[in-house]
Order: sequence, then C-alpha cells, then structure tokens
Amino acid sequence: MPLVSMRQLLDEAAKGGYGVGAFNVNDMEQIQAIMAAAKETKSPVIVQASRGARAFAEDLYLFKLIQAAAELNPEIPIAMHQDHGNSFETCKSAIELGYTSVMMDGSLKADGKTPASFEENVEVTRRAVDFAHERGVTVEGEIGVLGGIEDGHGAGGSGLEHVTDPDQAVEFAELTGVDALAIAIGTSHGAYKFTKKPDGSVLKMDILLAIHKRLPNTHLVMHGSSSVPKDLQDVVNKYGGKLKETWGVPVEEIQLGIRNGVRKINVDTDNRLAMTGAIRKVLWETPEKFDPRDYMKPAREAMQKVVAQRMTQFGQAGHAGDYKALPIAEIAKGYANGSLITKPLVAAK
Ligand code: G3H
Ligand code: 13P
Ligand code: ZN
Repeated sequence: MPLVSMRQLLDEAAKGGYGVGAFNVNDMEQIQAIMAAAKETKSPVIVQASRGARAFAEDLYLFKLIQAAAELNPEIPIAMHQDHGNSFETCKSAIELGYTSVMMDGSLKADGKTPASFEENVEVTRRAVDFAHERGVTVEGEIGVLGGIEDGHGAGGSGLEHVTDPDQAVEFAELTGVDALAIAIGTSHGAYKFTKKPDGSVLKMDILLAIHKRLPNTHLVMHGSSSVPKDLQDVVNKYGGKLKETWGVPVEEIQLGIRNGVRKINVDTDNRLAMTGAIRKVLWETPEKFDPRDYMKPAREAMQKVVAQRMTQFGQAGHAGDYKALPIAEIAKGYANGSLITKPLVAAK
C-alpha cells in the first residue's frame, strides 16, 4: 500500500472510535519494530520523525526506509508524519520528500523554544495548511505549549505553564483549517512528566473534555503520552542506568481521551526506554559481546512489544484491513472541492 494520508487514517479512526499511536523513528530497527507490531496486531499506524531524527538519519535514508516498510507491508496503512515542524520551511521540505502529514508546531517560535503569540501561530499554521492541502498532505497544529525539552525542542518547564484555553482552541481550529489539533493538558516530553501518579491537578483531562465538547468532530492529538511504566524503568536501572523515579500518562487516561475525540497519541519515550533497557541487559550480562546485532535484535524486540501493547490499548489493533489508501492526488481534490471538510463543527458553550 502506498503511504496513506494521515487525514484519511484519522477519519477512519474516528468512524471506528479508536486512537492511533504515532511512534517516533530514527533508524531501521525502530521502523522494523513498529512494522512488526503493526503486522502482529493488524494495525494502521503513524510513523513520525522529528527534526532531530531527520538530521540524525539523513532525510533520504529515513524516507527510503519508510518506503521499504510500505512496500514490505502492503496490507498496513502507514502515514509518514513530520513531528514538531518548527517552521514552514521544515514542513515544506518534508512534503517535498513525500511525507503524507506534517505537524506545523507554531506554538513555539522557529527557535523551537520561545512560546509564540496566538497570531504568529495562526499565521504560520495557515500558511502550512494552504501549501499542504494543495498537495493532499495532512496538517496537525498545536495550541498551548507542552512542558519539557527533547533534543533542544520545547519551552522547558512544567506541562502546566501553557495549558490550552478551550476558546482559543476553537478559534485556532476555525482560523487555520488544521486536520488535527494537538493540545497541552499538562503533559511533557521525555521521561520526567509527573512526580507521582498524575491526578486531575496535574493532568488536565477536564480541559481535553471541554475542548472536545466545543469541537466534537476535530481530531485531537495527545503529545508527551508515554506511560513511562515502572517495569521499563526498572530494567534500565537494574543494568546500570540512573533514572530517577517518575510517572507518565496512565493508559486509562489516554483511553478516556480516545472516548473523547483523541485520535493520535504520540509515544517515543517508552520505546526509548524499552530499547535502552534491552541493550543494557545484553552488555551487562555478556560484556564480552561486541556485535551490534547481539543487542540491537533484543532492543528491536523490546520496542515491538511496547508498540504492540499500545496498539491494542489504543484500539487500532484489527483495523488495518478496514480501508484502502486513497491516492494523495484524490485527497488534494477532496480539500479543493470541499468534500474533505476543514471548517470545524463548533458546538455552543
Ligand atoms: O517531540 C519529541 C519526540 O520525542 C522526538 O524527540 O526531538 O529528541 O527526536 P527528538
Ligand atoms: P513522549 O516523550 O511522552 O514519548 O512524547 C513523544 C511526543 O510527544 C513526540 O511528539
Ligand atoms: Zn510531541
């Protein structure tokens, strides 16, 4: 199957009432782990690359690997997504490479650190939407700012500093025409999200529910949604790691989100932990080993296990065969003739 428009994939998820995990990739083993999990669970999937990933792997290597994944798994719908595009130019270059979806993260200025004004965010996102939709490519926007910093990207601080205002979310969706909307509800990127199991004072599911009430047909996106399970932390620490005690986003809160408009769930940290734990274990227990395959194989298997578990928990498992990818040119026509709606349905307060 050719790469699928993320809009098509999320529209189908909305019809089926499930969420779709968006898993970050930087190399071949991570792509293979995701595809093995998608095959095992018969799941449609979103594969995403950050700017850091594109720089690390080099654009062409990474994109050709995704094309190989699509060729080798024709029964799996795969959307290829730019995670946290910091500027119009980043999104444009991803689209020109063949990505079927981009995140224009205008919540921060192009430096990827300083919170942008509402007007700046609308302007750059609208520009990305116009360019992308003409080419049949999906756009995710972000309103509100997440906590934490990953690879230099992020405003830092706690996830509660810039949570999304539901009225602004409505205005943003109306002004930009984005296909999917990332919101800030207290989560952060990385392993250190919460200092104890989060309750409603730090993980603002009430804000998510309020936004869904006002924008009942908008696909919502949860970033920073690794669950950071204790068993994965324990493996890393048992074999020489030094992670401090920490909590992520409980899967049951994500499932509550999925029942309330969340269609895309971003997960990176859990996979990083799983791979690192597996690699540490091999090197700790058998220090004489030096063939990368001896530790990359278990690392890949550990990531497959986490991804397959999330696919089942998010409900995407079993849905790979529900539909066929529409050609991107057809999607572009849909945006042009209005059959793919970009004006959100807004419910009264
Ligand atoms: O946005 C956060 C993702 O975990 C990607 O992280 O920018 O370090 O590749 P990265
Ligand atoms: P985690 O750090 O919680 O995995 O979040 C990943 C993410 O939001 C990527 O955009
Ligand atoms: Zn993110």
